[in-house]
Amino acid sequence: MSKRLHGKVALVTGAGSGIGRGCAIRLASEGASVVMADLESSGGEDAAAQIRGGGGEAVFQATDVRDEARCLRAVEAAVSQFGGLDILVNNAGIYPRATLEETTEELWDRMLAINLKGPFFLCKHAAPVLRRRGGGSIVNTGSVHGLGGAGNLFAYSVSKGGLLTLTKNLAASLAHDRIRVNYLIPGWVLSPTEIEIQRQQGHDEDWLKQKGARLAMGRFQTPEDAANIIAFLASDEAAMITGCVLNGDAGYSVRCIGTEDA
Ligand SMILES: NC(=O)c1ccc[n+]([C@@H]2O[C@H](COP(=O)([O-])OP(=O)(O)OC[C@H]3O[C@@H](n4cnc5c(N)ncnc54)[C@H](O)[C@@H]3O)[C@@H](O)[C@H]2O)c1
Repeated sequence: MSKRLHGKVALVTGAGSGIGRGCAIRLASEGASVVMADLESSGGEDAAAQIRGGGGEAVFQATDVRDEARCLRAVEAAVSQFGGLDILVNNAGIYPRATLEETTEELWDRMLAINLKGPFFLCKHAAPVLRRRGGGSIVNTGSVHGLGGAGNLFAYSVSKGGLLTLTKNLAASLAHDRIRVNYLIPGWVLSPTEIEIQRQQGHDEDWLKQKGARLAMGRFQTPEDAANIIAFLASDEAAMITGCVLNGDAGYSVRCIGTEDA
C-alpha cells in the first residue's frame, strides 16, 4: 500500500470502535501518526496497541468530546507526541433510534453535544495548530440523515444536518489557510453499535444478511469502506477538495422518498 500520509499527524475521534477504529488503522497504515481519541471504556487503548504492534504510530487519548478541555487536550497530545497536527477526523457519534415524540430533552442534549458540539470544540482548537502547519484536512463523519433523514432518527438527523452546515461554514472561512473541511456520508456500516441496535430491534444475523443483499450494491458496508474515503480526503490527492459532501453510501442517499426507516 502507498504511504500517502507519511509524515502526517492525525487525530481521530471515536477511534475505539467501528468506523473510527478502521479509519485510525488505515491512516496509520498509510504512514500517519495517529492520536486516537475516545471514551476511556471504548477499547481505544487496545486499538492503539494493535497499530503499534503492526509497526505503526498511535497513542490513545481518553476524550469525551462533550468536554472542551478534553478536546483541547487531544489536540495538544498530537503536538506533544508527534510534533503537530495535519488531519482531524470528527467521527465520534451516537445514533440511538427515536422519533420526534420519543425524543426526550436528555437525548436531544446528548445527541447534539456528542455529534455537533464535540466537532465544534475540536475544530476550534485544531484550526490554529493546522494553520501553523500551513494547512490541513478536517473530515467530518456525516450521514445521509443529515440531508433529511428517517423518522426514527430525528435528533440524529438534526445533529448531522448541523454538522453539514459546520462543514460548509468552515470550508469557506478556512480555505485561505489551506485548511480543507469535508463531509463524508458513509453507507450503512455494520459497526458493533449498529449490530447491537439492530439486535435490539429483533433483527438477527439472518435478517441482516437478507437486508444487506437487498441494498443497492448488495451488501452492508464495513468500516474499511469509510476509511478508504477518509484516507483519500485526508491526503494531498484531495488538495483542491473542500466543502464537499462525499457520498460514500453506495447510492443510499438517492433512494426514493417514502422508503422504510433505518
Ligand atoms: N454505522 C453506520 O451505519 C453509520 C452510517 C453513517 C454515519 N455513521 C457515523 O459514523 C460515526 C461512527 O459510527 P460507528 O457506526 O462506527 O459507531 P461506533 O459506536 O462503533 O463508534 C463510535 C465511537 O464513538 C465513541 N463515542 C461515543 N460518545 C463519545 C464521546 N462523548 N466522546 C468521545 N467518543 C465518543 C464511542 O465510544 C465509539 O468508540 C458516527 O458519527 C456515526 O453517526 C455511522
